[in-house]
Amino acid sequence: MHVPALLQETLRLLGPKPGRIFVDCTLGWGGHAEGILKSGARVLGIDRDEEAITAARERLSGYLPAGRHGPGIRVIRDNFSNIEKIITEPVDGILFDLGVSSYQIDEAKRGFSIRFDGPLDMRMDQGQALTAEEIVNKWPEEELARIFTEYAEERFAKRIAKAIVDYREPATEPRRLASGHIKTTGRLKEIVEKAIPTWRKRESVTRVFQALRIAVNSELENLKKALSVSPQILKPGGRLIVISYHSLEDRMVKWFFRDLEKSGILKILTKRPMVAEAAEIEANPRARSAKLRGAEKI
Ligand SMILES: C[S@@+](CC[C@H](N)C(=O)[O-])C[C@H]1O[C@@H](n2cnc3c(N)ncnc32)[C@H](O)[C@@H]1O
Repeated sequence: MHVPALLQETLRLLGPKPGRIFVDCTLGWGGHAEGILKSGARVLGIDRDEEAITAARERLSGYLPAGRHGPGIRVIRDNFSNIEKIITEPVDGILFDLGVSSYQIDEAKRGFSIRFDGPLDMRMDQGQALTAEEIVNKWPEEELARIFTEYAEERFAKRIAKAIVDYREPATEPRRLASGHIKTTGRLKEIVEKAIPTWRKRESVTRVFQALRIAVNSELENLKKALSVSPQILKPGGRLIVISYHSLEDRMVKWFFRDLEKSGILKILTKRPMVAEAAEIEANPRARSAKLRGAEKI
């Protein structure tokens, strides 16, 4: 079960009620959307993951809309970077709950987790061509080092990139036990762990996986594109809420909000990001890194 992070805070800021319309850009397993729907509002739910779409449709089947403009949810499989084309009427609120859901992480076959051995996939959109396997096996050493540095601030980025590329090359010395194509998350984890000091192993593996996921799914580019058009879709007084789980995204949102406040387009509602309280973190450890920022269209 994916437990939505900062649900009450999100609902308080969005203020859903009958007659209002909201876009949930990251529908996932429908937790936030269900909270909005319970108020009698209308929701347009977007996700690029086929499995999430199926599960959300099932969970929210009681909220299928009676008419085109009645309360309920319309579920759309797409990339939220296309929000400008998908949403054709002004809305009262837009929500981004970024990253991956527990369902995606907990499925070994999706390749997102450092806890399970699975294929090096990491695609949110199963129809996309680029996978983590392709990046790890085909991208040049400098590119790998770049993404580990830029997307995960990994201090051993160069060392790890070299270890991956060394592994890919056919073994020249007999002492090297294995070499070749890197197919699984388990193998990648082993290679990273061998390349760095013991005290840092877990942290570096986590960061390498984060960087690969961001690269595979063009996460920063998609967010940048969607944020830039979101104010145009909001009604005056409409609210934009973003929950992020790592500093790169949070920084992007912070600066975007500040720039648009200076231009008189948005008013920031959260001077500091909202974070989960201890009780929520205990019930849902994933909420530990969640940071919520909200702004209102002027
Ligand atoms: C943290 S989960 C959302 C969970 C949801 N709020 C809930 O309560 O169940 C993030 C979801 O966003 C989706 N996602 C991430 N980037 C996306 C993008 N660019 N376009 C569409 N969906 C995206 C993922 O597939 C995932 O299902």
